[in-house]
Amino acid sequence: MIRINENYKKLQSSYLFSDIAKRVSAFQKENPEKKIIKLGIGDVTRPLPQACIDAMHMAADEMNDIKTFRGYGPEQGYDFLREAIAKNDYQLNGIDVAPDEVFVSDGAKCDCGNIQEIFASDITVAIPDPVYPVYLDTNVMAGRTGFYKEGRYEGIVYLDGTAENGFVPELPNKKVDLIYLCFPNNPTGATISRDELKRWVDYARANRAVILYDAAYEAFIRDDALPKSIFEIEGARDVAIEFRSFSKTAGFTGIRCAFTVVPKSCCAYTSDGEKVALNGLWNRRHTTKFNSVSYPVQRAAEAVYSSEGKKQVRALSDYYLKNAALIRKEMAALGFDCIGGENSPYIWVNGKTDSWAFFDRLLKEAGVVVTPGAGFGKCGQGYIRISAFNNYEDVQKAMERIKEALE
Ligand code: MLT
Repeated sequence: MIRINENYKKLQSSYLFSDIAKRVSAFQKENPEKKIIKLGIGDVTRPLPQACIDAMHMAADEMNDIKTFRGYGPEQGYDFLREAIAKNDYQLNGIDVAPDEVFVSDGAKCDCGNIQEIFASDITVAIPDPVYPVYLDTNVMAGRTGFYKEGRYEGIVYLDGTAENGFVPELPNKKVDLIYLCFPNNPTGATISRDELKRWVDYARANRAVILYDAAYEAFIRDDALPKSIFEIEGARDVAIEFRSFSKTAGFTGIRCAFTVVPKSCCAYTSDGEKVALNGLWNRRHTTKFNSVSYPVQRAAEAVYSSEGKKQVRALSDYYLKNAALIRKEMAALGFDCIGGENSPYIWVNGKTDSWAFFDRLLKEAGVVVTPGAGFGKCGQGYIRISAFNNYEDVQKAMERIKEALE
């Protein structure tokens, strides 16, 4: 008899954003005349930078010529892109990352979800709460947790983010092996200082742990005092893996391109204590299960680092940050405590009421979709996340409608 992976039965109903999409579409069906404004899932609305479009057109033409046509590319990504990433995102900022430590992929979501495969199934995993659900759900699927009880999975060490700690969790009070961190944070928009991040790196070094650092939103950092990469921290190369994405940075959510940096000195251990480089393991996994991203898309990603591309990409994050500032200002004026929205496209709002009830109220009374904080974990209860990814005029309209509904 064929049997299922029963870990899937431990998962909570559907994936958060699918659940929200279902509720929104049911509401839209019942209210077809209502124009809903979506500030829920963090999906970009601005067109791709012209430099990326031009590069894609040129690459498409190359694919139409027998002399320049390309079939399968290298699984890890083309050298031209790996070199551009290593140079522009790291080396020019004084950070030691080599091209062969960069693995190009079709999304940080996939990489954050897949990376756990290279670790043992009986390790102890520390996951923040609130959290991007992918980190947690993929560990549930892999069997690293027990059952879901009272809002939490048995076996996970939860790192609580609260108003008291500014949504930057304390170090775990027990030994853990694998740690997920995300800054600027999804969902809270919180940022971490270099000193705070150093404490995590020191913890990982002292405990032979590995940090999975999701930096998908680094392009929104405007405060130079904040780290854009965990590799700015001394010693991090031995204990950290970093995920980045062109999705939010350059508007690639629809065309897909991201990358993961696995330094060659970052290691984990066999049960006999043998030290194994994770770069080799991830390379093995990547070459077996992935055929990289299409050539035109990799050329588009390379164009992000051209001088025109850099300006156009900066204009995109500036645009969404202007939305974020407006959202934060308006929600604060309505009397809500907010964090995020300054070096992040997400605003985390203390709604002082049940998250899903607040979500429903904003949907029904204002026609605005947000994300209920409780969907990101127990510590998210009472909060909502508002995304700045939309057109400025729609964000203005959404804020007016929320004001009208709540005042
Ligand atoms: C979010 O809204 O949290 C993100 O868009 C999800 C994602 O990037 O997968």
